[in-house]
Amino acid sequence: MSFPTQRPRRLRRTPTLRRLVRETSLSPDNFIYPIFVSEVVDKATPIASMPGIFNFPIPEAVTEAKRAFELGIPAVILFGTPTKKDASGSSSLKNDGIIQRAIREIKAGVPDLLVVTDVCLCEYTDHGHCGVIRDGMVKNDETLEILAAQAVSHAEAGADLVAPSDMMDGRVGRIRRALDNSGHGMTPIMAYSAKYASAFYGPFREAAGSTPQFGDRRSYQMDAANSQEALREVALDIAEGADIVMVKPALAYLDIIKEVRQKVHLPVAAYNVSGEYTMVKLAAERGIADERVLTMEILTAIKRAGADIILSYHAPQVARWLAE
Ligand code: PBG
Repeated sequence: MSFPTQRPRRLRRTPTLRRLVRETSLSPDNFIYPIFVSEVVDKATPIASMPGIFNFPIPEAVTEAKRAFELGIPAVILFGTPTKKDASGSSSLKNDGIIQRAIREIKAGVPDLLVVTDVCLCEYTDHGHCGVIRDGMVKNDETLEILAAQAVSHAEAGADLVAPSDMMDGRVGRIRRALDNSGHGMTPIMAYSAKYASAFYGPFREAAGSTPQFGDRRSYQMDAANSQEALREVALDIAEGADIVMVKPALAYLDIIKEVRQKVHLPVAAYNVSGEYTMVKLAAERGIADERVLTMEILTAIKRAGADIILSYHAPQVARWLAE
């Protein structure tokens, strides 16, 4: 049977009908909100490359986290800028480091909000790479030891989940073992499993001061041309003990999100990254698109592709729109 018996437009006639048959909807529950905390600033400082996003000193980061929680967002993920950087990212391990202090203050101020930490070296190394360098190469196995110590230090400070974003081989297993051996057997790992080498991270690197000082990240982050490799990375991370797997970026990788969602039985996260955010902001500022309509379309598409969890700088704004 086809036209005129079949008329798909019958179900699109009114807003209420469309609401009845809508297959995908967003909720504040789906979001993790990224917050930048900095040892370098003494007041909230706008990030030029990300309109509406700030680098916060710790007290203001607590206020921002509370605001997100009150809007119904269950989790924040923290990115830190330290005052001191060195070759091995040692300031990332300090008990009184920027992230460790921020975790304690946020957990004290908003105990039920989940605090996720990004486990990586690039914000703490003077060369801006995600691991230690020997002979011009990012060394995998040496880096694992630092990442494991960093994850334990975050858990010790009270982090609810740790999220390794470095893309070293074997880091999920190494971190799992370190957490288990230090009394943090119940701290879940959200692995940045399929993390691509992407120009969409540009605005973030300005925010976090983590641009590599030489070369690029292509020897550890994935090639944008590959999808089989993403499934392999995801399978390895699950075998090593990942509790949640992530695809990053989101918008140009909806096919990857969909494939991962179909193949695994864990929560799947997708990172709506800085470049995706800033493109929307600039298009809206220029009057080329309506920010609300464009943002909701993009985030709904990421969820429709199969993301259970979305990391997004738009999270508080979306929660406000959803409550209207
Ligand atoms: C750190 C890290 C990056 C992002 C999240 N964690 C940057 C990078 O890998 O260069 C990017 C997030 C964004 O662009 O919003 N390893």
